[in-house]
Amino acid sequence: MASIVTGDGSRTLFCESVGEHYHSTKDGAFSEALYKHVLPAWKYRIAKRQKVTVLDICFGLGYNTFVLLWYLARKKYAGHLKIISPEHDRRLLASLADFKYPKEFNDLSPIIREVAENNRYERPGLLIEVFGVDARSWLAGLEGPFDIVFHDPFSPAHNRKLWTREYFAELKRVGADDLFLTTYSTATAVRMGLFENGFHLYENHHRKVLVRSSTLASLTRLPLAEIDMRLKRQRNPAATSLRDDR
Ligand SMILES: C[S@@+](CC[C@H](N)C(=O)[O-])C[C@H]1O[C@@H](n2cnc3c(N)ncnc32)[C@H](O)[C@@H]1O
Repeated sequence: MASIVTGDGSRTLFCESVGEHYHSTKDGAFSEALYKHVLPAWKYRIAKRQKVTVLDICFGLGYNTFVLLWYLARKKYAGHLKIISPEHDRRLLASLADFKYPKEFNDLSPIIREVAENNRYERPGLLIEVFGVDARSWLAGLEGPFDIVFHDPFSPAHNRKLWTREYFAELKRVGADDLFLTTYSTATAVRMGLFENGFHLYENHHRKVLVRSSTLASLTRLPLAEIDMRLKRQRNPAATSLRDDR
């Protein structure tokens, strides 16, 4: 697969069979990972903790994981980090050592190489494990607790089973009591599925750098203006979550 240069100069891929890019080509692969996933996770969870477990769904090119490592190195984070990730495309995983990542990842190249070769990297304070499996069936057998979920599958139109109310219930089952989730999707049906599982929902804007906003979801309240999902439902009773069977 030929890589494509995105809006911030970092590269992504286009999946022919799905008809979607792996990242927003306008916002950029690196910027999307940083602003939609890593910065909120840092601000609302990681900064004050010495031990964090992240579920990175789905690994793809690994930007969410690698930008997190880059950012934590800049912050001189000295805590323990464990990242677990499903990615069903094993050929993609094996190819990552040759992918043209942005220069910010230069220091990460030994980690990227090991993840591509062994789907695993471990050193004191850091464990990364990537599983070449279908995320939904794998999740059913997974044990938590996870503190943070980077939720980054293809869109609901193509990856529906990773956006349903039942799927979010599975995430909650493996999540900590204050599970925090980040996703690029702002679809009402997606937010409803999270809301119906007890998540509080928030808009994540970075207007100076990103074209699109994204969603933050947390089982505990964040110091932000909450999206009023009850009001959304009152105004539009047809606004429902996606379900496994419809
Ligand atoms: C939007 S891309 C992920 C981008 C990635 N987070 C990154 O930062 O590069 C979606 C990924 O989901 C994977 N995928 C699609 N369906 C899946 C499934 N059922 N289980 C596991 N991985 C899946 C695709 O192979 C693709 O790599």
